[in-house]
Amino acid sequence: MIALYPGSFDPLTYGHLDIIERAARLFDRVVVAVLRNPAKVPLFTVEERLSQIQKAVRHLDNVEVEAFNGLTVTVARRLDARVLLRGLRAVSDFEAELQMAQTNRTLATEIETLFLSTSTEHSFLSSSLVKNIAAAGGPVSHMVPEHIEKELRTRFAGEPL
Ligand code: PNS
Repeated sequence: MIALYPGSFDPLTYGHLDIIERAARLFDRVVVAVLRNPAKVPLFTVEERLSQIQKAVRHLDNVEVEAFNGLTVTVARRLDARVLLRGLRAVSDFEAELQMAQTNRTLATEIETLFLSTSTEHSFLSSSLVKNIAAAGGPVSHMVPEHIEKELRTRFAGEPL
């Protein structure tokens, strides 16, 4: 069975990676789909995010990474993925995630959203938090893979506080 893991991944965190690694043990194939979230202005380009994620999942044979335009459910249908995966960190995620899952279900009833609870050590993590800390010159090595930490450092080097 194919599972689609959609998100903006700006950037990928250890929380995302944990979900991907666990999903790779559950499904035959996992496609990480970099999609546009209209509510967010990205820091990294789609190409940068693709390459960041590809590097981070190199050790997983059944995981692919692709960028898409349009609706998540359209991508899922095109790939024959019957499952959309989302990570749930805390109750605060629940309302928006439920709304998204229910909306997607009205668009494609044959596709199910499955939630994986994030590991407790990653429950505080978010891409926005990572960017926030990196922008202020703080350490993020415990939040993102090393190559992403380097890109964040380069991106924010010389930024006025
Ligand atoms: O990592 P994010 O930003 O929480 O991911 C949100 C994302 C990209 C999965 C969501 O915005 C999305 O599905 N965008 C594609 C457009 C779409 O399908 N919208 C309908 C879902 S309610």
